[in-house]
Amino acid sequence: ALARRIDRPIVLVGMMGVGKSSVGKRLATLLDCPFVDADDEIERSAQMTIPEIFETFGEDYFRNGERRVIARLIAESGAAKKRIVIATGGGAFVNAETRALILDKAITIWLDSEVDTLVERTARKDNRPLLRNGDPREILARLREERAPHYALAPIHVVSCSGPHVQTINKVLQEIS
Ligand code: S3P
Repeated sequence: ALARRIDRPIVLVGMMGVGKSSVGKRLATLLDCPFVDADDEIERSAQMTIPEIFETFGEDYFRNGERRVIARLIAESGAAKKRIVIATGGGAFVNAETRALILDKAITIWLDSEVDTLVERTARKDNRPLLRNGDPREILARLREERAPHYALAPIHVVSCSGPHVQTINKVLQEIS
């Protein structure tokens, strides 16, 4: 009976380090449907890591690939009439075309956290090219500020506090059930 009305892909948007992948994975388990991380999917289809894609081809190229991958994931789930949870990279929803596509076809959830939480969570892995050219805290604070108006276009907002993701997941479930 859990969230049985859900008939569209669930797409998580928001900043790097907010927990889109962790929350998405557990949400998918609870909803008994597949989870896909769009960043992983991009790396798989390019046979390169995200830092390598940025270094070799630049950010614009990455954004194009990102849009195509997200479009494909959404289309596949629609064609199969299958539920899916998709975690997007932090910049995906800032791209106007990618955003339009997501808003049109998916249940979109903006996960937001304080900058401190983003700093803490992004420090666990050095796989984010945008955080390599300066002080991660400054970069995260600036991007969060710049991107907030875009993220705010998502119909559902959930605040993710530091600490375990269980509260965030419960809030998300409440919003979509
Ligand atoms: C990016 C976020 C990353 C990844 C790339 C660019 C961004 O994904 O797509 O490094 O522009 O915010 P996560 O949000 O999963 O870290």
